[in-house]
Amino acid sequence: MSFDPAPVRACTRCALAATRTHVVVGSGALDARLLVIGEAPGRDEDEQGAPFVGRSGQLLFRLIAQEVGLAREDCYVTNTLKCRPPGNRVPTGDELAACRPWLEAQRAESGAAVTLVVGLTAAREVLGATLPMGRIHGRPRHLGASAGLATYHPAAALRNPEIVDVMRADLRVVAALLGSA
Ligand code: URA
Repeated sequence: MSFDPAPVRACTRCALAATRTHVVVGSGALDARLLVIGEAPGRDEDEQGAPFVGRSGQLLFRLIAQEVGLAREDCYVTNTLKCRPPGNRVPTGDELAACRPWLEAQRAESGAAVTLVVGLTAAREVLGATLPMGRIHGRPRHLGASAGLATYHPAAALRNPEIVDVMRADLRVVAALLGSA
């Protein structure tokens, strides 16, 4: 069975269906070697229907290009939530639970050697993280058939440029994992 985006685009499992412009399912090919999982679409993503196309996504993919040598098109990119929470608020537990089967279906189809988990919401959801990002980032762990690794959300790096260097170091770990996979 291959992942079918059509039911995701028609999803009404939570109240975000009433306020979204687009369902942001994901971009790229599910057999990409790097799977990138963020938190939720923001305003730009909701308008365009694609993940990480706004300012923070542009920073994230500039860093991935520089440190890992992969373009956005070389990755499969998605989020824990497929619809934008109004005002970009943090997803609720009910929203995450409603959306979880879609992410699980994508992960089941993914052929990625490495899963890069971006931001604490995604780290909690995908890696079961319980500690702050400062304690967990850059440390690979087994995640099904792939290695899973968390890094800071690029929105945090836009607010605090020192985080860019931390993300670069985390992405060099991703590059090493991909090189040895
Ligand atoms: N932030 C995210 O976590 N995901 C996006 O797609 C855009 C911004």
